[in-house]
Amino acid sequence: MSEITRDVVIIGAGAAGLTAANALRRQGLSVAVLEARDRVGGRLWTDTIEGAMLEIGGQWISPDQTALIETVAELGLSTFSRYRDGDSVYVGPDGTPVRFTGDLFPAGPETERVIAEITARLDEMVAEIDPDRPWAHPKAAEWDAISWDAWLRSQTDDDEAVRNLAFATGSAMLTKPTHAFSLLQSLHMAASAGSYTNLVDADFILDKRVVGGLQQVPLLLAERLGDDVFRSQPVRTLEWGEDGVTAVSDSMTVHARQALLAAAPILYDRISFVPPLPRRQHQLHQHLSMGFVIKVHAVYDRPFWREQGLSGTAFSPYELSHEAYDNTNFGDERGTLVGFVSDQHADDVFALDADERRARILESLSHYYGPEAKEPIVYYESDWGSEEWTRGAYAASFDLGGLHRYGADLRTAVGPIHFACSDMAGAGFQHVDGAIRMGRLVADQIAEAVRG
Ligand code: FDA
Repeated sequence: MSEITRDVVIIGAGAAGLTAANALRRQGLSVAVLEARDRVGGRLWTDTIEGAMLEIGGQWISPDQTALIETVAELGLSTFSRYRDGDSVYVGPDGTPVRFTGDLFPAGPETERVIAEITARLDEMVAEIDPDRPWAHPKAAEWDAISWDAWLRSQTDDDEAVRNLAFATGSAMLTKPTHAFSLLQSLHMAASAGSYTNLVDADFILDKRVVGGLQQVPLLLAERLGDDVFRSQPVRTLEWGEDGVTAVSDSMTVHARQALLAAAPILYDRISFVPPLPRRQHQLHQHLSMGFVIKVHAVYDRPFWREQGLSGTAFSPYELSHEAYDNTNFGDERGTLVGFVSDQHADDVFALDADERRARILESLSHYYGPEAKEPIVYYESDWGSEEWTRGAYAASFDLGGLHRYGADLRTAVGPIHFACSDMAGAGFQHVDGAIRMGRLVADQIAEAVRG
């Protein structure tokens, strides 16, 4: 068992923890980053599967995500745009694929009118929400007491409109059934991206990717920290008091003045806190849960859909894969599609054997792109639900009523223990940008605490 002393111990080498560690070092403080996995990056993971480079975790950057954009530039990485030339495809309730351009799904004039009207209403509500303090809105309690689905259904009885409006924050973002989270949580998700309109605009929210993969961000941040990053060190115990903290993993003990817990909040209970965390934290952490989505990668010898004038962008609230995109790597001759299977659909297909699951998912993709979609040369499912140190995707959010009740305390430090993660961000909530923002913010708070 090795024993070291630092100013700050950071638990978790994801984007939040590594950003904070670098910021603290720049402020003259010594750090040790303990990471449970044998790799850094957490939910950022770029790997080569059967010869194809795949973004197993996060990958896209939107123009408002300035903290991530700055970090990418500062690390000397370059970006490229998601392929978007040509028609998008929408599959409606009758199962027929319909080509379209622009943001509005071709759901028929009356349904399109209803969607536009409710979108305008949502944009007004979102504009009133402070993404850092959604609980401070005068109607926070009321909006947190009604599910996203129930609120939408109170606005219209057009089922197709409801399904299309619901899935932007449901299947596509929080990756939970729309009855499982509140209107307030949905508005917060949209506020974190600037507006509801931004969130439904794929060309905005899924704008750019990093050449060579987004995991380079944590890899390069960790490289700067050199020997201060310790892999395969799951922190099991965190002793804390007025004199500081002691983090204990299976083979290391780190004494420090302050600690940063930079893991997803649903994993805090994997650590034994001595003494236990206060009542408030015990309660609030139980009201957070991870969403669940399978990110499906299908690689083909060429991007065959482009030959048909298709952009690769596809949506349907009626399909197993509710959204799919051209995810071809920079400079790659092969074509890659990425599809997403969310929440209860993900439960259902994981109950099947692997061959049946693959067949069902590829069948769904073929409804957008035609039969050729069923014959990829590489097929891979990102299964974050099976990852012990993540347990779902993309991120954690509150249950019904939890956000206004507990949200304000999620980021509040407990003695020398501070918290940072994308799952508690305002701008960039549940995104890498939010993780970086939280890392920067909490590093400043820790530096101030150390200086006393
Ligand atoms: P993160 O979870 O990455 O890091 C926490 C680290 O703590 C992990 O490395 C974990 O192993 C470690 N840890 C946990 N417990 C520990 C313990 N007890 N001891 C030591 N270490 C411990 N975002 C985006 O901006 N664009 C996108 O396109 C996507 N797409 C996307 C797809 C998929 C499939 C996923 C899973 C996620 C995304 N995201 C995304 C979300 C994005 O990846 C995510 O919000 C951030 O990477 C989270 O960074 P954090 O540092 O906050 O947590």
